[in-house]
Amino acid sequence: MGYIVAFLSQKGGVGKSTLARALACEASKGGLSVKVADLDTQQGTVTNWHRQREANGFDRIGSVETFGKAKDALKNADDFDMLILDGAPRASSATSDIAKVADLIILPSGASRDDLIPTVLLAHELSKKGISPKSFAIALVRVSTESEIRDAQEYIQISGYQLLSGYLPEKPSYRQAQNDGLAVTETRFASINEKAKELIQSIIDTLTK
Ligand SMILES: Nc1ncnc2c1ncn2[C@@H]1O[C@H](COP(=O)(O)OP(=O)(O)OP(=O)(O)O)[C@@H](O)[C@H]1O
Ligand SMILES: [Mg+2]
Repeated sequence: MGYIVAFLSQKGGVGKSTLARALACEASKGGLSVKVADLDTQQGTVTNWHRQREANGFDRIGSVETFGKAKDALKNADDFDMLILDGAPRASSATSDIAKVADLIILPSGASRDDLIPTVLLAHELSKKGISPKSFAIALVRVSTESEIRDAQEYIQISGYQLLSGYLPEKPSYRQAQNDGLAVTETRFASINEKAKELIQSIIDTLTK
């Protein structure tokens, strides 16, 4: 069985699908066979994006499919080096089912307390359900200033959960790239691609260490 990485959150719109897509692209470019399970059946964000990617003829990533349940996503997952699970906008009983099967659970969060508090609460809740606190890693996304990054880093350090190194700055060009079927590591701007790559690399490093 390969690596299983899940992207989960309590709040919607925090950057799960954004990071799931970027991880799928970078892992594929690194030579891994990747399967993405889009567990957001209502929105199908990654599935739609993948269709756009294929239509535009960009570098192929492995398989992208929608699944209603984490258990179904695991079928035939043995054929892949990495299974990426993109969760739905809200935490539910499905969230803990997804967390249970993952080797690493990425919790994307903005830098505001409004984003950080639900992120840490979700990690606490899942820990109470028997998920190891060590399996969580918080990813800082949509951040703007050095001071808000420092403040968020301090808050996360106090929470005791792991923080991934790097962060995703707030950039309209990330949205533009994703509109076209590209990942945040594949925009027209090398410097912001590097920022995204650093964060994604830290997911890969955490998985493989
Ligand atoms: N760093 C960023 N800069 C600018 N826009 C961003 C950034 N990260 C994400 N976005 C945009 O924010 C929106 C939400 O991101 P995304 O879809 O990845 O979140 P999500 O957690 O998967 O949402 P949902 O809970 O609805 O599934 C998208 O429009 C995305 O393009
Ligand atoms: Mg999503």
